[in-house]
Amino acid sequence: MSLLFEPLVLGELRLANRIVMAPMTRNRADPDGVPGELMAEYYAQRSEAGLIVAEGTWPSAVGQSYCRQPGIASAAHIAGWKRVTDAVHARGGLIVLQIMHGGRIGSHHIKPAGIESVAPSALQAAGEVMTDSVGMQPYDMPRALTTAEVRAVVQEHAQAALNAREAGFDGVELHGTSGYLPMQFLSSGTNLRTDEYGGAASKRARFAFECLREMAAAIGAGRVGLRLNPGNTYNDTSDEDSAATHAELMRQAATLDLAYLHVMRAPLPELDAFALARSHFGERLILNDGFDPGNAEQALQSHPGAALSFARHFIGNPDLVSRMRLGQPLTRFDRKTLYTPGAAGYTSYPNSAPA
Ligand SMILES: Cc1cc2nc3c(=O)[nH]c(=O)nc-3n(C[C@H](O)[C@H](O)[C@H](O)COP(=O)(O)O)c2cc1C
Repeated sequence: MSLLFEPLVLGELRLANRIVMAPMTRNRADPDGVPGELMAEYYAQRSEAGLIVAEGTWPSAVGQSYCRQPGIASAAHIAGWKRVTDAVHARGGLIVLQIMHGGRIGSHHIKPAGIESVAPSALQAAGEVMTDSVGMQPYDMPRALTTAEVRAVVQEHAQAALNAREAGFDGVELHGTSGYLPMQFLSSGTNLRTDEYGGAASKRARFAFECLREMAAAIGAGRVGLRLNPGNTYNDTSDEDSAATHAELMRQAATLDLAYLHVMRAPLPELDAFALARSHFGERLILNDGFDPGNAEQALQSHPGAALSFARHFIGNPDLVSRMRLGQPLTRFDRKTLYTPGAAGYTSYPNSAPA
């Protein structure tokens, strides 16, 4: 019997198999970030995953990065997500919500009127973001958060965890990769602060650590995960020593007895992110990036206590677990419909392998 289909316990989360659906932003919420029936159907279709990590979701309007990206800040968001979690649970699935504060990655053309972008330091990210109202726009020049405001954003994360629990989620995952707010604090290139949230790596890790600590206090450490990707430079982030900085945050996070660390392979060949995670965080790992039916089993043999997450294969293969179990071919997905509104390329992929 393959390890892939063996159950696994990660904190309070009991996975029926080790095939996790990785978080994917798909921009199918309404303009206010409220999930509807379509999102419930999409996640329910994928509920045989051992665990679904639902897409990056903002804890407050300030943290919104993308159009039609869902939120978990209002009663309407909670009610919308409740339909999603009910649909997944009705099919026996397990689902956590990824909490994603975008920080400087965003535009005032996307957020509600009068809401500005914030960051550890007033440094504008290079690049542009697609808006529904005026097309491609440069990222906002962010305003640097005051120390008191940083503490308030930490509390927003605790509230987001409580809201996620009310919406029926089995837990939450903090998005600590890809140049969003926790990574903006973590990285020396985006964090020039001189208060307790900037300077040495131990201080740059403090924001993410405090978010995790408060989320854990709110809903229980065994229901809180963290996602990291050492060496990631996405969204114009850079760090003087990404491996050492990530090792520091992993060590801090390990003191919290969290459910898991979801670690993506490093983009640099000389940095073994999985080994870094094992030595500084421990055994409760979800490994990601580039897994497929051909290499998954071998990866688990090297990391027998871990689960593997799959993102792109879940787009065209809602029944990925069955297909892998039966050795059936996988369907490719259409890039053009990744982020477009509506069912096409979202819930339209069939739930069985082509004959
Ligand atoms: C359409 C799309 C949206 C994504 N959105 C998110 C996201 O919201 N949060 C996140 O942490 N990663 C996101 N990712 C990254 C994936 O979770 C995953 O790390 C990446 O695709 C590599 O895994 P794979 O090789 O199995 O596809 C996204 C990837 C894709 C393709």
